[in-house]
Amino acid sequence: MTPNPPGVPRRPAIIGNWKLWGTRAEARPNCERLLELLPDEPRRPASVGICPPFTSLDVCVETLRGSGVAVFAQNMHQQESGAFTGEVSAAMLREIGVDGVVLGHSERREHFGETDRALQEKVPAALIAGLRPILCVGESEKEREAGATERKLRHQVQEDLERVPDERLAEVVIAYEPIWAIGTGKVATPEIAQDAIAFVRALVAGRSRDAAARMRLLYGGSVKPDNAADIIAQPDVDGALVGGASLDPDGFARIVAAAAG
Ligand code: PGA
Repeated sequence: MTPNPPGVPRRPAIIGNWKLWGTRAEARPNCERLLELLPDEPRRPASVGICPPFTSLDVCVETLRGSGVAVFAQNMHQQESGAFTGEVSAAMLREIGVDGVVLGHSERREHFGETDRALQEKVPAALIAGLRPILCVGESEKEREAGATERKLRHQVQEDLERVPDERLAEVVIAYEPIWAIGTGKVATPEIAQDAIAFVRALVAGRSRDAAARMRLLYGGSVKPDNAADIIAQPDVDGALVGGASLDPDGFARIVAAAAG
């Protein structure tokens, strides 16, 4: 998943987040089936990636080698080494051939105490190590109902990207994932996705217009084969971060196909 060069249209990206699914025994056949279903890289309508659990990363890297399908971790620690029991560094992920990392997923923020402060260090640490970060942002149902969506997005985008230099901003992928839509079957309307993602792009433009024009912004939250096309067709939506529906290679390949427009 190379960054978009200036002046070139943004290539969509479809990324499957396996969350806590995928033993090594499950991961290999899933990747093999996916490769059978996807068109070859030059004919693919989108960049494709998957995010398996740590223990299956190397199996996926090996099975997908040369296919153009990227492999992302679901988290990492911001430090290179030290007394951080249970953590994994960016360099450790690079060492086994991982391409990128999901950072700040709402499940990590909610259940594992992930903070904007840590993300402020994680996003640049990933870039420095050569990992493509996918930063997740999004509001809760309560925040949306209180009219606080933009305030929340502004806070997360500004805070989490604060230490990324302007010239590297375009390499970050941001996934707008409204918490009320994750795993609930309650997908955002294409209009809601477009509005929020256009707002995020405008926030990035406040730092760098060039980066905002090149940065890929994804939607995530109950994306399925039958609703993906309408969402991805929105002008500011550059693809999807897919949870549940990415576990079935057939459905996931249909979502990739939906990026063709
Ligand atoms: P979902 O998850 O597609 O199962 O709603 C999306 C995500 O958490 O990235």
